[in-house]
Amino acid sequence: MSSADDSVVVRFVTEDDKDGWQRLWKSFQEFYEVSFPNELDDFNFKRFLDPTVKMWAAVAVNGLSGEIIGMVNFFSHMSTWDFKDKIYINDLYVGENSRIKGVGRKLIQFVYEEADKLGTPSEYWCTDESNHRAQILYTKIGYKAPKIMYKRNGY
Ligand SMILES: CC(C)(COP(=O)(O)OP(=O)(O)OC[C@H]1O[C@@H](n2cnc3c(N)ncnc32)[C@H](O)[C@@H]1OP(=O)(O)O)[C@@H](O)C(=O)NCCC(=O)NCCS
Repeated sequence: MSSADDSVVVRFVTEDDKDGWQRLWKSFQEFYEVSFPNELDDFNFKRFLDPTVKMWAAVAVNGLSGEIIGMVNFFSHMSTWDFKDKIYINDLYVGENSRIKGVGRKLIQFVYEEADKLGTPSEYWCTDESNHRAQILYTKIGYKAPKIMYKRNGY
């Protein structure tokens, strides 16, 4: 198991993190070959900081340089299958130069810990069938559910 350098800290975003978060958010879009308008970035970031909205973002920060090297965006929702809400991990991204050092694992562990604190310890997420690199990590930190996703349209 690779472990992120102890100097890498994962924490919720603050107002000052907008530029660093947005840089990774744009790279994440390039990775998925999608492009969202800047207005959506602003909308998302406002939601992350709004204590009345159950949507959050956390960043991995290199403690030495202060650079934001990873991000995870997640939200909570109700489910008929449980009394408790479930957490959906919407987006996960680690900068190319910081990969395979345990940062992705650390970001997901942060979500697990925060979800436990909220009393909603059930998390789930999706990835592309072709995203083998992500799946290497995911099968170590969760399990592959026997589900297929359908959509009416869109991404
Ligand atoms: C998927 C992603 C978040 C993983 O981040 P990361 O920081 O590299 O992940 P980690 O280092 O925590 O974990 C990678 C695990 O895969 C293992 N691994 C083995 N061979 C690997 C390889 N060739 N490539 C990548 N990981 C490999 C690592 O050893 C590690 O396992 P370990 O913790 O048990 O040692 C990152 O690659 C990324 O941002 N990719 C582009 C965007 C993306 O795919 N996001 C996910 C969308 S669902």
